[in-house]
Amino acid sequence: MDDAIIRMKNIHKAFGDTHVLKGISMSVRRGEIVSIIGPSGSGKSTLLRCINQLEEINSGEIYVNDCSMHLKSKSQNEMRKKIGMVFQNFNLFPHYKVIENISKPLNVVKKLNKDEAHEIAVDILKKVKLEDKLDEYPAQLSGGQKQRVGIARTIAMGSEIILFDEPTSALDPEIAAEVLSAIKSLADEGFTMVIVTHQINFASEISDRIIFIDEGKICEQGEPEEIIINPKNERTKRFLNAIKGIV
Ligand SMILES: Nc1ncnc2c1ncn2[C@@H]1O[C@H](COP(=O)(O)OP(=O)(O)O)[C@@H](O)[C@H]1O
Ligand SMILES: [Mg+2]
Repeated sequence: MDDAIIRMKNIHKAFGDTHVLKGISMSVRRGEIVSIIGPSGSGKSTLLRCINQLEEINSGEIYVNDCSMHLKSKSQNEMRKKIGMVFQNFNLFPHYKVIENISKPLNVVKKLNKDEAHEIAVDILKKVKLEDKLDEYPAQLSGGQKQRVGIARTIAMGSEIILFDEPTSALDPEIAAEVLSAIKSLADEGFTMVIVTHQINFASEISDRIIFIDEGKICEQGEPEEIIINPKNERTKRFLNAIKGIV
C-alpha cells in the first residue's frame, strides 16, 4: 500500500510465556478509519500499544510515515508525537481543571506560552462542545464529557493518528452516543484513526475497513458490509452472533 501511514509486518509480541500477537501484518492508509474487533484477550489493546511504542515488539517491523518504530531513532520520537491514544478510562489529570488538562501539556510538552496554550485549548474544547465546562474538574463531569476532554487533548497535541482503545466501553449507551458522535466529527477532518470497539453498529458506520482479530491473529478484514453482514470466517460469524446476543 503506497499511501500507508502505518505499516506493520509480521509483528510478534509475548509477555513471558504468553504469546499475544502471532504475526500481525496490516497497513493503514493516511486518513483511513479502521476498526478492530475481536474477543476479550485477543490482543487488541496490545496491538494499539505496540503501534504507539508503549510496548516493545519481540519481532517484526512497524513503520509510521516510513519511519521505523521498531528501531530506536530520533525520528521515532518525532513520529510518536504524531500518534495520540484515547483510553477507556480517560486518563485525565484529576487535580487540573478541564481547560488545564488541555493547556498544561501544550505549555509543558509543546512549549507554547500560557496564552497561546489557553487559546488553543478553548478552541478545541468548543469543537467537542465543552466550552461551558472549562473551569470544572474531571470529577464534576459525566463519563462522556471526560472522554470528550480526552479526545480534545489528543487533538490539541497535534496527533495525526488517533488510536482509540474501547473509548465507550465504560459508558452507558446513551452517553456513549455523544462520544461516538465526537469521534465521527473527527472522521470528517482527515485524521487517521484506529478504533478498538465492541460497538459494531458504530464501527460499521464510521469505518473504511474492519479487522477481526482472534488469538493474536487477523482472521478476516474488509469493508464493513463484508465483515459485518457477510462474514466468511466461522470465528467471525460466531463472534458477531455472540455480540448481537448481548447488545
Ligand atoms: N503487560 C502485560 N503483562 C502480561 N500480560 C499481558 C500484559 N498486557 C496484556 N497481557 C495479556 O495479553 C493478552 C491480550 O491482552 P489485550 O491485548 O489486553 O487483549 P484485548 O485488548 O483484546 O482484550 C491477555 O492474555 C493479557 O492477559
Ligand atoms: Mg483491550
